[in-house]
This record gives sequence, structure tokens and C-alpha cells, in this order.
Amino acid sequence: MLIAQISDTHILPPTSDQPAAKLRADCLRQCVADINRHQPDAVIFTGDTVQHARPDEYAWLRELLAPLQAPLYVVPGNRDDKSQMRAAFSDFAFLPGDGEFFHYVIDDHDTRLVGLDSTLADERKGRFCDARQAWLDSTLSVQPDQPTLLFIHHPPFDVGEHYIGGYRRSEEAAQLEEIVGRNAQVVGLLCGHVHWPVSREWAGTQARIMPSVAVDVRKGVDEDEARQRPIYMLHELSRVTGLASHAITVPA
Ligand SMILES: [Fe+2]
Repeated sequence: MLIAQISDTHILPPTSDQPAAKLRADCLRQCVADINRHQPDAVIFTGDTVQHARPDEYAWLRELLAPLQAPLYVVPGNRDDKSQMRAAFSDFAFLPGDGEFFHYVIDDHDTRLVGLDSTLADERKGRFCDARQAWLDSTLSVQPDQPTLLFIHHPPFDVGEHYIGGYRRSEEAAQLEEIVGRNAQVVGLLCGHVHWPVSREWAGTQARIMPSVAVDVRKGVDEDEARQRPIYMLHELSRVTGLASHAITVPA
């Protein structure tokens, strides 16, 4: 199974006269076109889709995403607003139409996909409260032998000096790690938020953070090599090799 990941596009209103508005829209547009070329089975979007959670930003985001050919699965970031997102993506059948949390399971593919919600209104840091822990625990217990990929905005681990204590309550990140650690079917966790690329082991599985698609806010990318071109991820999943991830720089 081939999965493309995009994250932290931070789209601004189309009417904005900030130079970043056109730049970020161009970054996403170019990623979408290049992702289509690779024909992935699914596209995962790990949040911070827009900058101010305004309806006009979400409408513009949907226009930019419209050419995507593969099914798209999105989770919110701290920049997103869940009710605005629900309204903007109301035609997406898998999304929970109501309820406090924006989490869900996709059983349409070889790998089970589980979108997790690490956000709370007016909170910059990650949250993974008791209710979310219970939901993940019971969701994973239903199919313990089916390879499962998780995706979430906030990484539940530190990244050097760039990202420390990313969860408001460290015990919630620890609980997430504990649940994943006793579910051997989890083949990986895809994250955003830090804007900085990371590949590591975590909770007995593989974790990835991708740099932001928006080149003006990304970090940890060699710009001599990337030359301000947008980057997205391609993740190959197989029962033999597990999760193999590649950063794709969109050609000029
Ligand atoms: Fe972000």
C-alpha cells in the first residue's frame, strides 16, 4: 500500500495580500499534482491545514485539494477549528458528523487507517484525554491482527530542543505510548506539527514527523538541496518491510 502524507499547509485566505498566501497555496497545489503522478492508495493530512480556521480559508483549501485522485483522510491541528473543518469537509463520509472528537477508522484498505485527534479548542499543545485513550484502546482491540497505521497532529514524543513537552499533560502522551506499545499490529504513527522531519522508533513501532508543506515555515530541511521546493511524504507499507518512508521534493 502506498500512502502520501501532507501536513501543516497553513493556508491563508485567497484574498490575503501577504506574500505567504500565494506561496503556501502554490506549495499545496504543486504537491497535489505530484502526488497524483505517484497514484497512492490514500492521502493522509496531519493537520494545521489553514492558518486562522476561517471559512474562506477552508473553502480555498478544498479548492486546492479538489484535484487529488486518491481518497483523502484529514485530522485537525491546533490551527484548525473542528466545527469549521466539519462544515468544510461535510461531504467526507468517514468524518464524525458530531461529537467532541475528530477521530475515525478506515477499513477500506489493506492497512487499517486510524485518524486521531490531539486537539482542544484554544490549546496549542497536544491532548489525549481519557476518552480518547479509551476509544483508541477499544478500536485497536477489535482487529488485533490487522496491520494498522495511526496518524495524529501532535507527536507524543520530544524532538531534541525543537519540541519538548508537546502535550499539555505528559501522562496523556505516555498513555498513548502505552496503548500503542501493547498493540503489535500498529505499523506506524504519522505526525505533523513540528514542521521538522523526524524518523524514529517509538512505542515498539515506527514514528514519522514530516516538514510542513508550506516552505516559509518549515524547519530542518537542507534548502541548498530542496531549493524552496515543497516536500511531501510517500510511505510504502508491506507485511515484509513494514513502513518505508520517502521525502519527495516536488520537481520545479
Ligand atoms: Fe503547523
